[in-house]
Amino acid sequence: MTETLILRELLAAEPGWVSGGAIATKLGVSRVSVWHQMEKLRAQGFGFEALPARGYRLSRRPRMLHAGLVEAQLKVRRKGFTFLVLDEVDSTNDECARQLAAGRAAPFAVFAQKQTRGRGRFGRVWHSEANGNLYSSFAFRPRIEPGRMQTFTLWMGVTICELVSRFVPLAPGIKWPNDIVFDGRKAGGMLTEARVDADQIRDLVFGLGLNVNSPAADWPADLARRAVSLSELAGAAVDLNHLTAALIGRVLLAYERFIEGEHVDMFAELWNKYDVLRGREITLAEGGRKRRGKVLGVDDVGSLLLRDDHGRTRGFRAGEVTVEKGA
Ligand code: BTN
Repeated sequence: MTETLILRELLAAEPGWVSGGAIATKLGVSRVSVWHQMEKLRAQGFGFEALPARGYRLSRRPRMLHAGLVEAQLKVRRKGFTFLVLDEVDSTNDECARQLAAGRAAPFAVFAQKQTRGRGRFGRVWHSEANGNLYSSFAFRPRIEPGRMQTFTLWMGVTICELVSRFVPLAPGIKWPNDIVFDGRKAGGMLTEARVDADQIRDLVFGLGLNVNSPAADWPADLARRAVSLSELAGAAVDLNHLTAALIGRVLLAYERFIEGEHVDMFAELWNKYDVLRGREITLAEGGRKRRGKVLGVDDVGSLLLRDDHGRTRGFRAGEVTVEKGA
């Protein structure tokens, strides 16, 4: 798209200038058409400085998600990958499922400024106002055994920690199985859902909600105590479009590594780096039962290893963890 190409030229020149003529020649379009595209971009929240002798320079970018700006910042353009940015959707996970069912070629991703029925684990509501946070889902057709899904989410979790640590000056952590946390407060959550044929995953949706720019004051009081946004940690607004472009690159690479089985060694190292539960006394609520114990880590299928008071160690595939006070 011309719009993306213009943005790419302007971004590449930053903080310098690019002449309208140079952009037009590079893109093989007229100067008038470049000017028209830039007017359209202005209406979408971009600002350009213009000097007759030097050309144009980007002076303002939209804070909300902008498909062209994300695309223009992709470092690697993976063959066949497409994505959508929607103003509003019920749930990006549900939109991915619909598009998969309709036959859209994978991989693809759906991003939304706002969700009306954002979902978390256990059917909980995921607050999803249009507040500069990230609501994203990636769709794949992996053809792997269903048993690998848990490690997939954990692997994606450490991938997200790696990404997030580039945007804030503090170290993120992962709380098994799907929470991205900072000092006990939740900055993000993952929801992986799959349709399974007899012994293979037919398609898989990896959903990620990340509190990027929401002011804590906008959340309900109880949530504000438990949640944190990246902008709060960074002390300044986080560039959502840049973060989204980086997310796409990392998720697609992590997916390829996972499918090729290249992630195994890296996973063990990264999990140990980001795991906030190892060595902690916790309660695991699972299937109506509560079990207490000390976390020893995760096994190779992604189960949480818990040692009880009798010294017995068991792996748990699902459940919700509460860290014991003072542990
Ligand atoms: C959790 O922590 O329980 C998981 C939260 C997952 C939220 C994301 S937001 C984008 C995607 N769409 C949804 O409806 N849920 C996930």
